[in-house]
Amino acid sequence: MNPVAESIKEQIKGVRTAFEEALASASQTEALEEARVRFTGKKGELTSLLRSLGKLSSEERPAVGQELNALRDEMEQKLEARKVQLRDAENERLEAEERIDVTLPPRGRPAGAFHPVFQTLHELVNIMQGLGYSVALGPEKEEEHYNFDCLNMPSWHPARDMQDTFYFPGEGQGGRSLLRTHTSPVQVRSMLKYGAPLRIVCPGKTYRRDNDPTHSPMFHQMEGLMIDKDVSFSVLKGTISEMTSAFFGRPLKNRFRASYFPFTEPSMELDIECVECSGRNPHCRVCKGTGWLEVGGMGMVHPAVIRAGGIDPDVYNGFAFGFGLDRMAMLKYGISDLRLFFDGNVSYFLSGRDA
Ligand code: PHE
Repeated sequence: MNPVAESIKEQIKGVRTAFEEALASASQTEALEEARVRFTGKKGELTSLLRSLGKLSSEERPAVGQELNALRDEMEQKLEARKVQLRDAENERLEAEERIDVTLPPRGRPAGAFHPVFQTLHELVNIMQGLGYSVALGPEKEEEHYNFDCLNMPSWHPARDMQDTFYFPGEGQGGRSLLRTHTSPVQVRSMLKYGAPLRIVCPGKTYRRDNDPTHSPMFHQMEGLMIDKDVSFSVLKGTISEMTSAFFGRPLKNRFRASYFPFTEPSMELDIECVECSGRNPHCRVCKGTGWLEVGGMGMVHPAVIRAGGIDPDVYNGFAFGFGLDRMAMLKYGISDLRLFFDGNVSYFLSGRDA
């Protein structure tokens, strides 16, 4: 064999060994790519050997050429196999690292919950929706007209003094603006908007100049209104006892006491059986030993109010009630000071009962 062929054969051996080493040490796809360029690339070591075939005689060329071609095929296969190997290993590593065990239990309840007053609001609204009532809302900044006049309380009416009102300054013409003292103005607004028959509840914020353990200047009420033909007082009683029993989770005794509101006639105040002691504990701190809890006012809607709502009181009648939502929440969750609802003492609520 001539020396040129000899030397090419030697070089082939060398390239093969170098290739095997480079392949074995390529532990990343970048290194593997470098090896590919180095051996089988355009200017690669194997490629330059192929070019040197020209120096061989025509008898020697086929055998060496075949060997070189076989080597190139082998290299390409090995590079590809190694590439697949590296990619699989990389995938396995990622899978192990980023694995999420979907069978793990969740990390407990996220911090944060509805305010007890809003839980109460939602529960009561739900109960009333079950009885066929819809929700109607009205503005907190209300007009004297809806808050008082339409509710049978003209400006001279002494009952206006019952509700210590926040008035807005400097708005005099045609009635002042005020912070609504109750949700009752939504009665009239809804009658004007929807007409009769009507079944609505109107939850929301209300405001009075009051501040002590059982009164806050901002508090919540839920108004209820049913307008239809021949609505009887017993429907009112039935509705109210259904609502309170569903809310407290058991049938409760109700007591209706004669009362006075300018916008209902007759008017009543509702007491429910003490949710704490059912009247059995003369020292009960919730009912002060009376056995009864006052929760709201109600009555048959005054004809003057129905008329103010644009409905004929000779055809339609109905009832209305107004419940204190804060009071209901205090009773249900055993909270003794109303003002705790509106300060930032979170620990009180986390501990559940009186701190
Ligand atoms: N609006 C009355 C109040 O806030 C409650 C009430 C509503 C009474 C509806 C009768 C009918 O005191």
